Amino acid sequence: MERKWWQEEIVYQIYPKSFYDSNHDGIGDLNGIRKKLKYLKDLNVTMLWICPIFKSPMDDNGYDISDYFALAPEFGTMEDLKCLIDEAKEMGIKIILDLVINHTSDEHAWFQQAIANKDSKYRNYYIFKEGKEVPNNWRSIFGGSVWEKVEGEDTYYFHTFGKKQPDLNWENKEVREALYAMVNQWLEFGIAGFRVDAITFIKKDQSYASIEADGVDGLAKCTKTCRNQEGIKDFLLELKERCFDKYDCMSVAEAPGIAYDDLDDFISKDGFFSMIFDFKAADLDVASGSEWFKRLPWKISDLRTKLMEYQMAVQKIGWAANFIENHDQPRSTTKYLLAHERNKEAVKTLASMYLCLRGTPYIYQGQELGMVNFQRSRIEEFNDISSIDQYYRAMQEGCSKEEALHYINLRSRDNSRTPFPWNATRYGGFSEHTPWLSMSEEYPTINVEEQMQDEDSVLSFYKKILHFRQNSKYRECLIYGDIAFLESDEEIIAYERKTKKDCLQCFFNFSDQGKEETLLHASCKVVFQTQDKVEIKDKVLKLKPFQTVILKVEEQ
Ligand code: GLC
Repeated sequence: MERKWWQEEIVYQIYPKSFYDSNHDGIGDLNGIRKKLKYLKDLNVTMLWICPIFKSPMDDNGYDISDYFALAPEFGTMEDLKCLIDEAKEMGIKIILDLVINHTSDEHAWFQQAIANKDSKYRNYYIFKEGKEVPNNWRSIFGGSVWEKVEGEDTYYFHTFGKKQPDLNWENKEVREALYAMVNQWLEFGIAGFRVDAITFIKKDQSYASIEADGVDGLAKCTKTCRNQEGIKDFLLELKERCFDKYDCMSVAEAPGIAYDDLDDFISKDGFFSMIFDFKAADLDVASGSEWFKRLPWKISDLRTKLMEYQMAVQKIGWAANFIENHDQPRSTTKYLLAHERNKEAVKTLASMYLCLRGTPYIYQGQELGMVNFQRSRIEEFNDISSIDQYYRAMQEGCSKEEALHYINLRSRDNSRTPFPWNATRYGGFSEHTPWLSMSEEYPTINVEEQMQDEDSVLSFYKKILHFRQNSKYRECLIYGDIAFLESDEEIIAYERKTKKDCLQCFFNFSDQGKEETLLHASCKVVFQTQDKVEIKDKVLKLKPFQTVILKVEEQ
């Protein structure tokens, strides 16, 4: 593929509410991010994706925007944002923002006017259906019907996500025009691009007909009728042509459920986006990604297969967005390493395994410390609307209270949203005020200060491997090289990265046992490894438990 600047980025995702609180009100803010730019620079990241910072009642922590042109006062001012962008730029760090255009908050002026006056043009900015009965049996992502009754009227409005997140009517050209103008205004402001939220939901099945129920509530998942629907491509093409194409920007879309056969439209040279997030590997432990109480058994070989299918499909067409955590996912340590979540060596191997894949790596705040999931004991301790819904739905589907709590502890989005642990003091140095969400229990031992002083820590390792990817003589190969997966033991993930000049073979042992791999080439040199000196004898590579080894093939 033709080279693009965003292939060389290392993106760090910031959940602003929980990163660093500079004014001590218990909520992280933009000046907090500014104060920590040096930390991010030292980590070797080159771009920040900041989750929504716009004005919002925060029902879904900013993914419910009430004004696209104003910032949430708790995060700071436009001036603060400008300073952050400028200072980051001086340090060689770009910034992308989160673009939430499937829905707004119900407190957005458009929706307020739509509700206040039936005849207002803003009624057609959203999806309203008249009638005494609920229009159909579709279930929203955060639980219950997608329809909410308008007070005092026999009318319902539509929401894919929460009740306070009414969906915009993309069928209305005026809505689309207003959104494009807004997107362009932000690109003019000096950001490097967008992470595009929930974009595969913008087209609904226009029949709005009920479908076969898939739960005891008599409802059916709206992903079947509202995600990747026929006709969506016209909207996505228009968005790209009217906005992204006009700027040399980067766009990464949250796009679950896209068939690999369809990737061409999304990420080829003329695709709608620079890259997309795929969730098949991220959601390997739960049925269809959205039902946390339906746990799926899996093995490292399944993870390998999912990653391989994604990487190979993308390589034919474009560029991948590689991640193991984000603000909607539990901690990758607990999810992928299970009983070994606190084993530093296992955490390092998980990190290097995905950081050396072909694509742009995304690191979610706290991941670089090897943070683990929390254990909450009561539903009242959760903030995330999705966790609360999943708790009650699990019980509705026959789980006991204890089981329901167990499932949400494993999967809750709050796991990744706890305040960032900067040190071991009260509130982890995140704030001097009680934080908006309580800290996770392990912060006295897993925190930045502790790990900065330890050369062998997970944090020090992230710096090292990112430096290896960005600055070593293998940079070209690790960024642009082709990928091919190698046959290996069931508990090993192994792949090759290759350019005309170099060939690197990468081995990641996910077993708590030593393993042997027979090499295809006699002449290999170790160029990167974790733990002590790895042994290669008679073409046999002897890996220690949870070891990473990267070899350069000397003769191909
Ligand atoms: C995306 C976001 C998630 C949010 C939802 C609704 O999935 O990542 O956090 O709740 O969209 O905007």
